[in-house]
Amino acid sequence: MISTIGGFLFLALGIIVAWLMLEVIGRKDKVANPAGYRLWHKRLGWAFILLYLLFLSGMVLRLSGMSDELDVRPFAHALLGLLLFPLLTIKVLFARRYKSFMGNLPTLGLIIVATSFLLIMLTAGYDLIAVGQGPGTPAAAQSAGEDQVAEGKSLVPIKCTHCHSLDRVWAADKTPARWQSTVKTMASKQPGWINDDQANAIISFLSQRKK
Ligand code: HEC
Repeated sequence: MISTIGGFLFLALGIIVAWLMLEVIGRKDKVANPAGYRLWHKRLGWAFILLYLLFLSGMVLRLSGMSDELDVRPFAHALLGLLLFPLLTIKVLFARRYKSFMGNLPTLGLIIVATSFLLIMLTAGYDLIAVGQGPGTPAAAQSAGEDQVAEGKSLVPIKCTHCHSLDRVWAADKTPARWQSTVKTMASKQPGWINDDQANAIISFLSQRKK
C-alpha cells in the first residue's frame, strides 16, 4: 500500500514538474511569474529524480535477492524503470551542459511523464484495480483464483524441493487452514526464498488439490 501511494505521488510529481514548464513555454499569453515557475520546475524536478533514485535502489535490491525469472508485469515495470535512467540523465545533460539541444527538452519531458505513467500503472494502478475488485466481484475473483492456483502448481516443484523432496508435500493431506499454516512455516524457515505472493499461490493450489 505504501508503494502504491509512493507510486502515485511520484507520478503526480512528474506531472506537476512538466505542467510548470508547459505553463512557461507552452502558452500563447505569458504567465505572470515565469521565473517562479522555472524555479519550482527545477526544484521539484530534482525531487522527482531523488524519488526515482530511491525507488530504483529499492528495486535493484529486491531484484538482486531473486533467483527466478520475472513475470511479465514486474519485468515490464523493471524495464520502464530502467529506461527512465538514461532519459533523466539526457534531460539533465541537455538542460545544463549541451544547451544546443534545449529544443528537445519538452519532448523528452513528455516522454518521461508518459514512461512514468506506464511504469506506475503497471504496478500501483494494477494493485489499485485488484484491490478495488476485491472478493466481491465473483468473475474477476474466480479467474484471479484460477491464475493463482496455476501459479501455485508451477511454484511447488521449484520452491518446495529446496529442503526436502516433493513426496513430503504430496503425502500431506491438509485442510486449507492447515496448508496456510504449513506453507507459512516453510516460508519462514528460509526468509526470502518464498515471498508472500508465492506462498499465497502455493496455498491456493495445495488447498484445492484434494477436492
Ligand atoms: C527452508 C527449507 C524448506 C522449504 C523451502 C520447504 N520446507 Fe517443508 N519442511 C522443511 C523441514 C525442515 C521439514 C521438517 C520439519 C518440520 O516439519 O518443520 C519440512 C516438512 C514439511 C512437511 C511435513 C510436515 C508438515 O507440517 O506436514 C510438509 C507437508 C512440507 N514440509 C511442505 C512444504 C511445502 C508445501 C513447501 C513449499 C511451499 C516446503 N515444504 C518448503 C523445510 C522446508
